[in-house]
Amino acid sequence: MQHPGKRDKPVTNRSDLSFDEFDDANKPPAAEPAFNAIAERLLNRRGFLAGSAAIGASALVLGAGCLTSSRALAAGAGNWLDFTPIAANGEDTITLPDGFDWQLLVSWGDPMWAKGVAFDDATRGTAASQALAFGDNNDGMALFTDVGRSILAVNNEYVNNAIIFGNRASGTPETDDDVRKGKNGHGVSVIEIARQDGKWRMVADSPVNRRITPDTPMAITGPARGHDLLKTQADPTGTVALGTWNNCGNGRTPWGTYLTCEENFNGYFSSSDPDNKPSAELARYGVGNKDWGYGWARTDERFDISKHPNEPNRAGYVVEIDPLDPASTPRKRTALGRFKHENAELVIARNGKVVVYLGDDERGEFLYRFVSAGIYTEGSDNRDLLEDGSLHVAKFSDDGRGEWLELTPQATGMASRADICVHTRQAASAVGATTMDRPEWVAANPHKAEAYCCLTNNKNRGQKPNAGGDATPVSGPNPREANLFGQIVRWRPDGGDHAARGFDWDLYVVAGNPAVHDDARRGSSNVTTENMFNSPDGLIFDSRGGLWIQTDGNYSNDKDFAGQGNNQMLLGNPETGEIRRFLVGPKQCEVTGIAWSADQSTMFVGIQHPGEKGDSHFPGGGNAVPRSSIIAITRKDQGPMG
Ligand code: FEO
Ligand code: CA
Ligand code: CA
Ligand code: CA
Repeated sequence: MQHPGKRDKPVTNRSDLSFDEFDDANKPPAAEPAFNAIAERLLNRRGFLAGSAAIGASALVLGAGCLTSSRALAAGAGNWLDFTPIAANGEDTITLPDGFDWQLLVSWGDPMWAKGVAFDDATRGTAASQALAFGDNNDGMALFTDVGRSILAVNNEYVNNAIIFGNRASGTPETDDDVRKGKNGHGVSVIEIARQDGKWRMVADSPVNRRITPDTPMAITGPARGHDLLKTQADPTGTVALGTWNNCGNGRTPWGTYLTCEENFNGYFSSSDPDNKPSAELARYGVGNKDWGYGWARTDERFDISKHPNEPNRAGYVVEIDPLDPASTPRKRTALGRFKHENAELVIARNGKVVVYLGDDERGEFLYRFVSAGIYTEGSDNRDLLEDGSLHVAKFSDDGRGEWLELTPQATGMASRADICVHTRQAASAVGATTMDRPEWVAANPHKAEAYCCLTNNKNRGQKPNAGGDATPVSGPNPREANLFGQIVRWRPDGGDHAARGFDWDLYVVAGNPAVHDDARRGSSNVTTENMFNSPDGLIFDSRGGLWIQTDGNYSNDKDFAGQGNNQMLLGNPETGEIRRFLVGPKQCEVTGIAWSADQSTMFVGIQHPGEKGDSHFPGGGNAVPRSSIIAITRKDQGPMG
């Protein structure tokens, strides 16, 4: 959730605003970025070395590995998808390189069962129709196969009030049914998809189709299960929570489950008592007396924090779902910590432990790692490996080294591991972890022990502390003050072991605009006027080792962002640092979520909130209501897509 736009009215309806806009309105940042100083610091040693991501100042560790390996994938097109990169644009459609086709797979509001009703542009549906339909704002997703079925599990992150309630003069939920409609647009959609006559489509009435909403019962598992902080009037045991919402990125496990990550869960809570004072613990997570315009407390009292102050402690987790069993109970995995979870990238370490990399997407928050207590064994019962383990947070040094600090009661001063799993941000602050420029997706290279994380942007870098009061100095993998463009950090664990304590790190790319800027804002040398972008967010490796980068950035195509066009998707070569633009999305969308068909012939890509500011009719065209959608991309020569 991040996009441009100016507002001159007080902010009351957060769901139409970006995180940045909302934060601006409530906590204005300091004025001008001190770019002259930072540019001097970054560039006066040498600056932007050719052939790598290197910026080359002492505060930066960039792409040293890239310098020597311009061979690798560039020399072997068979190792990554070969195409002629495309130019940026501001069109209201999908643009792909020559040799590729796209088609629409599914859009917000498409009925998943025959008893549902087709999407109606005039009403944009009802609570009842939305409960039977594909959710809104599709984000992370993964494809599973089972006895010939292709099953896509998809996050439905949030709704845009101005769109879903565009039939109302106020552009907000006006009736109880409106509130419930918005709520039903959230959660997860599990759908069977099939290809017939060369076209992919959703299979209505498939026995695996399932809507998981903010009202679906879920088991609370792990160290915090039954903790006093999780007990409520409706659930005095603290073991069963209702629902999941603001599901952002995702993960998948080798034992066939889907991981959905609860991100900005805070914006749904409000207080009927204006004098209610949210605790410092809730404030750290951004929970306050006003919601972001969704109005859920109007129809569901548990979202009223003056009456149910523990309810927010039951959100902000990674939830594990069996996509093949619609009757299964989703499990909130408290062992993976509570924060604004972006995605959950799972790898099996050398010793068989399950390692899950986890970003907390807020300015100045942290990058985490979970290491399971148990060992993964293929073919065994691995279902509860995310039930128990240790949590670690990253600390980066300026010299290119880093370490994972384990969050234990002793290290954090907290009473128990359960407390750490509920107040994870506070635990990470206590051990002095590195404040980051909004960690978004983490992606692990399937061909070697290294992982990458998008640090999407952070205009507060060097300007103000995070919500816990931790300083955010320019340092390590966060090298630019008031960072508008973002960067991608990568690390290689010691001994090639993802469970190791130490790692080496560098920056794979520093995004910027070399057409406009000559200082650090121009970006690293693998950013050119031909491939530039801002705010990397979605990130995933394909099976051949190509690194796909999806953006959630400023699409004004003006000033700092002139020439960058709409949000886009690019393919990065991890060996050479080369980055090529593959896809440009329609107006005002974010490109997020990616999956492949079992035979790799089709790549599914998420187009989220086209027209979030009112200027798109994707995918219908004409005067159609813009609708978040998943598209299917194939090669004209039927070759593999990754
Ligand atoms: Fe939902 Fe951090 O993106
Ligand atoms: Ca988004
Ligand atoms: Ca984002
Ligand atoms: Ca994201």
